Amino acid sequence: MKSTINLNKEVRSIRNPYLRRATEMALKDFMPRLRKLPSSLRHHPKDERGPGGLILHIRRMVWGCHGIMKQFDLSETECDCLITAAVFHDIGVVNAEKHDEKVIHADVSAGIFACYISKIIDPYLLAREIRCVQNIIRTHGGRWYPFHERPAKKLQLLFSLLDYIVSRTNVLVDPDGET
Ligand SMILES: [Fe+2]
Ligand SMILES: [Fe+2]
Repeated sequence: MKSTINLNKEVRSIRNPYLRRATEMALKDFMPRLRKLPSSLRHHPKDERGPGGLILHIRRMVWGCHGIMKQFDLSETECDCLITAAVFHDIGVVNAEKHDEKVIHADVSAGIFACYISKIIDPYLLAREIRCVQNIIRTHGGRWYPFHERPAKKLQLLFSLLDYIVSRTNVLVDPDGET
């Protein structure tokens, strides 16, 4: 199966206006750096090991989130939180020397998300959604990953499993599609 994921279009499809705006702003700001970076060099598919690899990984995560959304009866908010988390979850590696397994980037990514959302709305007014996105980001390394917080709830577990799968299998999201 071949599937093209256009990140800008995906972000525009987030229905919560605050999550959508924060994600749009972050993607715009981080895109130049994201385009230059590989994803992890250790486990990820070969086509992610050069410049642009990280953005390809993010697109694969968005693609997989659609699979989760189809298989499970998720609310609109849960779907928005998944796509938002997919865009932000590895964004923290842009400040690291290299994205290796020991870089604790999940907390940095969750912090960057918090920063962007607080530019848009008082976090107190969107506390449930913010907590949901942050918990998915913080735990995306999965139960077997010693450097991040462990996932506990359904969305966190599904997201961490998805990250594990797409990081180790060359799923056929079209690498030539638009970002
Ligand atoms: Fe990661
Ligand atoms: Fe990831």
